[in-house]
Amino acid sequence: MRKINVFDTTLRDGEQSAGVSLNLEEKLEIARQLERLGVDIMEAGFPASSKGDFQSVQQIARTIKNSSITGLARAVQSDIDTAWEALKDSAEPRLHVFIASSPIHMQYKLNMTPDQLVERAVQSVRHAASKFPHVQFSAEDASRAELPFLARLVEEAIQAGATVINLPDTVGFTTPHEIGKMFAYMKEHVPSIDKVVLSTHNHNDLGMAVANSLAAIQNGAGQVECTVNGIGERAGNAALEEIAVALNIRKDYYKADTGLTLKEIKRTSSLVSKLANMPVPGNKAVVGANAFAHESGIHQDGMLKNKETYEIITPELVGVHESSMVLGKHSGRHAFKEKLTELGFAGDATQFQQIFDAFKDLCDKKKEVTEDDLFALMTETMTDAIQESYELQTVQVNYGTNNIPTAAITMKLPSGEMAQEAATGSGSVEAIYNTLERIIEGPVSLEDYRIQSVNGGGDALAEVYVQVKYAGFESSGRGTAHDVLEASAKAYINAVNRTLIRKAYEQEQTNKVNI
Ligand code: KIV
Ligand code: ZN
Repeated sequence: MRKINVFDTTLRDGEQSAGVSLNLEEKLEIARQLERLGVDIMEAGFPASSKGDFQSVQQIARTIKNSSITGLARAVQSDIDTAWEALKDSAEPRLHVFIASSPIHMQYKLNMTPDQLVERAVQSVRHAASKFPHVQFSAEDASRAELPFLARLVEEAIQAGATVINLPDTVGFTTPHEIGKMFAYMKEHVPSIDKVVLSTHNHNDLGMAVANSLAAIQNGAGQVECTVNGIGERAGNAALEEIAVALNIRKDYYKADTGLTLKEIKRTSSLVSKLANMPVPGNKAVVGANAFAHESGIHQDGMLKNKETYEIITPELVGVHESSMVLGKHSGRHAFKEKLTELGFAGDATQFQQIFDAFKDLCDKKKEVTEDDLFALMTETMTDAIQESYELQTVQVNYGTNNIPTAAITMKLPSGEMAQEAATGSGSVEAIYNTLERIIEGPVSLEDYRIQSVNGGGDALAEVYVQVKYAGFESSGRGTAHDVLEASAKAYINAVNRTLIRKAYEQEQTNKVNI
């Protein structure tokens, strides 16, 4: 069985998805979960791109111990130096340096000749290798490069000190057969190829990212780059969970495995979906809500006789289970702490107390508090460290089939003063949002509103996601509460608070660069 290294780029390429913007606490929470999942390498960000990215890469590098942390850099000395400052405290510092390799990128984007490009790549890798024990070189847009040139570039990068060579399908253009040929060509034409690990990184524009990754693995890639739920630029990246499960279920065919703790997959997927505000489609392979649902009578009959008739993946393999009752009203602090630790709690005493209080509150409202509920409360507390500018105090809604819905809200303002307002709407949620807009002195335009329950059942926690436009920014927010209206108010306020933070941050930030 070949071991395939998993290079997760949810926090870098994944965060480049349109509309996704994670704060430091959210990135840390995802990083901790990726560590539990067992990814070998985590790309935590692009340190030279902004102060915020620098800080989160540095914090993740200092926190995570069991995965190697890497950061992206252009083939520019200052990017590499900045990445070193962010990564030098990690257990195993690793740099990911890239430059484009296709004729179209060389000519139009970089305005460089092939010789100039090779020289720049060599200088950058050499500089990186003087600092980092591990240097990954990526030949961006490799799938559209000319193979003899690509082989030359790769050989030079290895000679300069690269330890991993990545050949990305940057625009999701290639096919499984072609990518296989590209990897086989490198094996045959790059003299030093056996000194490095070959890596594959695929985008999903034609829906072939996972198939292309598997084909590259069959042709010599020892590392696969992917994101949780396949989030990423445009149509996204290859989905981590699909690759890991495909290798596991078809080990007879691929004879390769990732070594990931597969039962952490579902929880990782839910966490990323929640924090990135990107719902997972019901029919998504491995982690969709319907992935293990059998609807037709013939299928159900088969399942009752022998599950293998229609089920090739067991739900237990990826951590999908009937969420069991874990703790109740009378549970003590000790048992509660143990359960939280099991779920990966890494907070301080104040955060523990907040989660414990929220749990006790929930016990008053909900018969059975499940593991998923606790996980929701925990991530809510751990990632809500954003400074609250507006804070909801009370919300009251008057609704009746013959009444105009009316909301009355009390809220703490950024100045610390209290404000009280009331407004009507065509529905209860609209009445709440009209009231909040008055307090915030909008205009706030609601672009998207989604609601889901943490678990099934009439007394489930409600999770609301919103997308708003406010003060010239588009921002997402989320709120969890036992009541859907309270969750709706919280999500809206969360989005507004995030906008304020972004606005303040963008004012101070001047050196944002684009990839
Ligand atoms: O898609 C791509 O080419 C990338 C590189 C930076 C590796 O994300
Ligand atoms: Zn990419």
